[in-house]
Amino acid sequence: MEVREAIAERRSIRRFKETPVSEEAIRSVLHAATLAPSGKNRQPWRFVVVQGAEQRAVMVARMREGIAKLEAQGMGTGSAKWTVEIMAHAPVTVFVFSAYETYAGKLNTLADDLMDIVDVQSIGAAIQNMALAALPLGLGTLWICDVFYALEELCAWLTEEHVMVAAVALGVPDEAPTPRPRKPVDEVTRWVGP
Ligand SMILES: Cc1cc2nc3c(=O)[nH]c(=O)nc-3n(C[C@H](O)[C@H](O)[C@H](O)COP(=O)(O)O)c2cc1C
Repeated sequence: MEVREAIAERRSIRRFKETPVSEEAIRSVLHAATLAPSGKNRQPWRFVVVQGAEQRAVMVARMREGIAKLEAQGMGTGSAKWTVEIMAHAPVTVFVFSAYETYAGKLNTLADDLMDIVDVQSIGAAIQNMALAALPLGLGTLWICDVFYALEELCAWLTEEHVMVAAVALGVPDEAPTPRPRKPVDEVTRWVGP
């Protein structure tokens, strides 16, 4: 599959088949992630793969706890309740962490803060690689940031001290969504120079 074709055909998948995903396929997707460019080649991405009905149930329970806690405090939780149902039916969820920042020791120098921004960009590139590499394997992905609504609960369960950046649901798609609209290039671009 050509890169351009994969870029054009990738969709956020929110309905997955129960079909298990082989370890080989998961490793192949993660390997693609590790081929992403990263600032100073720091390779800040760290992955935690959650699979199997038992662990998935715990993950979903932690998510629901986090969402319920915020709602009890009167806070909005956006699309999180919907996303958790998607996660409940995805055979694999990969949590993505940033290796050089911890919740305990917040970065505080400007240089550290800037590196944090650089690292997050690198991790974004890794996640996009995962989404593209999944396609020729017949797999679909959903990039998920609604995990932030249950950050404490998920990090405690996964015993992770590193900062969570996102999760990626992975599995055989059970839908073929039409493309979501995009702004034309001219609407989002300003040319400086001739
Ligand atoms: C950083 C990021 C976070 C996202 N978080 C969620 C999420 O928590 N739940 C969800 O259903 N979709 C999530 N999405 C998917 C977007 O809604 C989707 O990419 C967008 O609507 C465009 O659709 P497409 O991916 O099919 O082109 C996220 C995407 C990105 C890039």
